[in-house]
Amino acid sequence: MCGIIGYTGAGRDEELSEILLNGLSSLEYRGYDSAGVAIANSTVSVYKSEGELSELERKLPPNTLEGFAGIGHTRWSTHGPPSDTNAHPHTGCDRRVAVVHNGIIENYEELRKELEANDHEFESETDTEVVPHLIEEAITQGSTPETAFRQAVHRLEGSYAVSAVVSGHDAVFATRNQSPLVLGIGDDGYFLASDVPAFLEYTDDVVYLEDGQYVSITRSGVEITDEQGTLVDMPVETVEWDAADAGKSGYDHYMLKEINEQPHALRECLRGRPRELEASIAIDELEGLKQPERVHFVSCGTSYHASRYGAKLFREQGIQTTTFLASEYDVDSIPIDEETLVVGVTQSGETADTLRALRAANSVGAETLAVTNVVGCSAARETDYVMYIRAGPEIGVAATKTFASQQVALAMLSRDLSGRCSSAFIEALRALPDQVQSILDTSHAAAVADEYVDADAYFFIGRGFDAPVALEGALKMKEITYKHAEGFPAGELKHGPLALVTERTPVFAMISGNSNIERMVGNVREVESRGAPVVAVTDVPGRIENHADHVLEIPETHGLFAPILANIQLQLVSYWVANRLGRSIDKPRNLAKSVTVE
Ligand code: F6R
Repeated sequence: MCGIIGYTGAGRDEELSEILLNGLSSLEYRGYDSAGVAIANSTVSVYKSEGELSELERKLPPNTLEGFAGIGHTRWSTHGPPSDTNAHPHTGCDRRVAVVHNGIIENYEELRKELEANDHEFESETDTEVVPHLIEEAITQGSTPETAFRQAVHRLEGSYAVSAVVSGHDAVFATRNQSPLVLGIGDDGYFLASDVPAFLEYTDDVVYLEDGQYVSITRSGVEITDEQGTLVDMPVETVEWDAADAGKSGYDHYMLKEINEQPHALRECLRGRPRELEASIAIDELEGLKQPERVHFVSCGTSYHASRYGAKLFREQGIQTTTFLASEYDVDSIPIDEETLVVGVTQSGETADTLRALRAANSVGAETLAVTNVVGCSAARETDYVMYIRAGPEIGVAATKTFASQQVALAMLSRDLSGRCSSAFIEALRALPDQVQSILDTSHAAAVADEYVDADAYFFIGRGFDAPVALEGALKMKEITYKHAEGFPAGELKHGPLALVTERTPVFAMISGNSNIERMVGNVREVESRGAPVVAVTDVPGRIENHADHVLEIPETHGLFAPILANIQLQLVSYWVANRLGRSIDKPRNLAKSVTVE
């Protein structure tokens, strides 16, 4: 969940630091508790700092850093707390090698002991620091830098994308094992990064590297080899996103931009999938996938909430479906077999828990499908089928547009698999982008946020299809405001959580045409009578306004899609509460966008 970048090119030397810092700023969503760069020329110069990238920029010397190859890193700490010393890049004893790493080196303690016995001194508490020492040791024993890199990596166990520079060499060496690494091919330079937005402003030609491949980029070319050192020819693909997609486009925060991009994201998700002339959905990339005996969803966080919504749509089509938190999937003995389709819902496609669950499914011969946003991600490569949600780059750590796109993608998938669909369903799907736009144009969520910004806690309730969105509303609120928030299926409130409800805990109640309105009104009255302010999010305002302090209205839709629309209002409320509280909205404390450790 850290971000790495590497660059070397035939352009001006002074471009190097600019390219590395721009790249790190696009990768900051992957971790932002410390950052650093290393520049190779006749020596290796390392600059690093605890804190966000701006702290590192303050520490850099006033003149641009010149050199022929460089690497950079933005960290989300796993081994050792955030500090200048634990920040990457790490170096060996004689400081001629610098290394950045994303992932976990499981056998680092054993390697460290061995190196210490050989007089290597360590400075940090990180697992990464063993790598530059191993490379240095191999170079000292006569290996070339490239061979030394390979020899060092052979000693590692765990997951890693790792990259190194060595003094006096214009090369960046890198490899991956279960952590993402992409190669960018520019007009006069080569890039290595954890994710494409890191170099999208310079090139959109990319190679998605595979586990076990080694790459070395120099000013004059690029070489990709397999574990045995044999050259491999990898296809160069052109990414469809452009640099503007990955920028803030005048919004104060990526999150607000991404909330506002949802009409476009949904249009993209729908493009070409509902059939023009018949009431059916066809997802071209899933041709050949038949209705399975049973479906297991595996996912985490927001993607888990989308899965719970999707599972209801699947069950409604008669497909036996269960939703699992990916981190718990292989903990219990789950009945998976060849008749099970295991669907990993993951916007990044790199979430370690979800990948582990998918691997468990692959290992027993189940069919696997990834529903993801990132072309070429690990989940896409490790599953039998992949459906892209096409939301475009999402930089804000809190997932917004990818959640809406996951909901719509899973709605389509439910009909594609069952082979049954109505024209009303398709019409309602097609209407969603404009309906989301009308919410964005008219919402008074900011005024509701203003009124409740000082609340003690926030509760979210809904029934049936609305229940997963109640969970999602609470997750969004807590992660960006740092305030207590909980979501419940509304019927559960009286079984315990009601004890927490007071006049200082607003309750957001989702009441849509499809939920059991009478029972929802009953639950709202329960909280009303305890003095809690009620905010109804509804397409049937006439049924609830007498019991609500505020109504956030959503357009009338096919009952099944009300939760997609209601969630837009909840995203806006959370955003505005966090904004009024002055929180770090795009980079909430302790979190990272892509969680590549278990
Ligand atoms: C919350 C959020 C996380 C992710 C979770 C899974 O806003 O973004 O809860 O949903 O870490 O990530 P993916 O979807 O990349 O597997």
